[in-house]
Amino acid sequence: MCGIVAVIGSREAAPLLLEGLRQLEYRGYDSAGLATVKSLEGEDVGTLTCKRAKGKLKNLSSLVSNQAAPGHLGIGHTRWATHGKPEECNAHPHRDSSGRIAVVQNGIIENHRALRKELEAAGVIFTSETDTEVIPHLIARELKPFLIRGASASGAVLLEAVQKVSKQLKGAFALAVVWADTPDALVVASRQAPLVIGLGEGEFLCASDTPALVGFTRTILPMEDGEVALLTPLGIELYNAKGTRQQRIPSLLRGGDHLVDKRNFRHFMLKEIHEQPETAELWVERHLPAGLPVESPVALPFDESFYSGIERIQILACGTSRHSAMVGAYLLEQFAGVPTSVFYASEFRYAAPPLAPNTLTIGVTQSGETADTLAALRMEAQRRDEHGDPAFASRQLGVTNRPESSLSRLVPNILDIGAGIEVGVAATKTFLAQMLAFYGLALTFAARRKSRSSDEIRELTEGLRSVPNQLRTLVQTHDELSESLAHRFADTQDVIFLGRGINYPIALEGALKLKEISYIHAEGYPAGEMKHGPIALLDPRVPVISIAMPGVVFEKVLSNAQEAKARDAQLIGVAPEAPGTEIFDALMPLPEVSEWISPLLSVVPMQLLSYHIAAHRGLDVDQPRNLAKSVTVE
Ligand code: M6R
Repeated sequence: MCGIVAVIGSREAAPLLLEGLRQLEYRGYDSAGLATVKSLEGEDVGTLTCKRAKGKLKNLSSLVSNQAAPGHLGIGHTRWATHGKPEECNAHPHRDSSGRIAVVQNGIIENHRALRKELEAAGVIFTSETDTEVIPHLIARELKPFLIRGASASGAVLLEAVQKVSKQLKGAFALAVVWADTPDALVVASRQAPLVIGLGEGEFLCASDTPALVGFTRTILPMEDGEVALLTPLGIELYNAKGTRQQRIPSLLRGGDHLVDKRNFRHFMLKEIHEQPETAELWVERHLPAGLPVESPVALPFDESFYSGIERIQILACGTSRHSAMVGAYLLEQFAGVPTSVFYASEFRYAAPPLAPNTLTIGVTQSGETADTLAALRMEAQRRDEHGDPAFASRQLGVTNRPESSLSRLVPNILDIGAGIEVGVAATKTFLAQMLAFYGLALTFAARRKSRSSDEIRELTEGLRSVPNQLRTLVQTHDELSESLAHRFADTQDVIFLGRGINYPIALEGALKLKEISYIHAEGYPAGEMKHGPIALLDPRVPVISIAMPGVVFEKVLSNAQEAKARDAQLIGVAPEAPGTEIFDALMPLPEVSEWISPLLSVVPMQLLSYHIAAHRGLDVDQPRNLAKSVTVE
């Protein structure tokens, strides 16, 4: 979590830093800060100015507009608190005791306690509770011998100090460092945390993610694991973890990586919900072009060797991505006949099942940066490599919306879900796009394994082609309907979501959406499980939202809903206007589609209802409390 941005160039750094941070605010918004170094000729050359503010970036912006932060060199940070409360004293940048070295960091310094103890024993006084603060003090300690020798400060000296300090740090981190004595040097380092260098005109930038760069340059150089770089007005020196100079050709950012813009929508989340028909349309165009043979019904970027010999699949993911993985597992098992398991990545890391042969491991992560998912994939690849038997060899696929992310440097195959940048912390269009990716995989496996007839494959493919238009109608009608239903939830404290089969993950997703943006307690259950305990929660104050789509469990779900109604719960149905659905107190109608397709549609009322409930309560829908879009800490 946290976003870093840094710049060295020929224009004032502070406005660039603030604009870059604005694009990174989705990574955290507990506090923000920046430090600049005055680098032009003049009396106050080498002055380091640091500004920090608790809360959202707007607080820092108003501080900076009232009190100047001059300099052409600077670093900035937007924070998601890990160590220490979201207070100004814990906001980055952190400085050494002289106030001349400033550091911003994204990640966790795992051995910070030991380092802090060591520094305190040497007389250092800490001013924050953060893990990061050890870094400027350690850099100062490394620089001391240079200064005592009377050596002149230079970028090379700062670079060497940062390289030495990096070796003392345990954990995953990205950092940017400035030193008032070297106004022409910016040092950045990345270990298992994203950092991308941008090559602008007369300036170099560095940021945790590309949206912070696109306003300034499209030429980028993503840093690799363990690299440290020195940026000066003249160029970039890049070194690997062993200190060997690296030469790499920069790449160009893709057209889709645009600056974030709400258009005319009140919130990014609402805009992104409304973008879903387009997301699905794009997916159909790319992956279901006309004329594909039934034996290979989906255009996917993999060759024969990718599929050969796969006997089972395991999927690792967190949060909403895990819910899409559950829909995927249902399709892969029930439609394509491939045994598939889904794991919380954070659990898998410490309790992985015994190794099975011929297994494809899929990591699903919208951001491609989720620390738990990346670590689980890394761990799984390592234990398979150590096994030695080719049948157990690591075979991995990453499903992501950010093909340029850390995930792509970890796994050999990437499936880009192509949903475009998603800014709202609550995932919506990327959830849809992740599910679509699994439809593509399930159809492909079913066709290759001949586990479904040609007619069944054609039927599902045709069903998918209709989804963009169905979504178009649904988004419009349910936006109004959800808004009118939202007022019923004014005093609601608990909501139950029920689903079964392929729609059980949608019940989980509905509950997660409501929790994260409206702060209402919500639980998703498989509808048949209610009677085993959760039904005790029901009374007239607890709304039950039940997804009932015609198919194998339709009647069962209606009976489960009936059981809730008998306990006076308010029943809201997400179902077609079909016989049996009159039991619902309110109906959020869906078209009658095949059960296989239904999650792609049933999720829309969940998203819109959560959105309108949160908006009705006047909450910050796009940046809910305590959350961040990309969770880069374990
Ligand atoms: O980037 P990822 O898909 O790996 O993120 C995983 C979760 O952190 C994410 O889905 C989270 O649950 C969202 N806030 C859901 O809306």
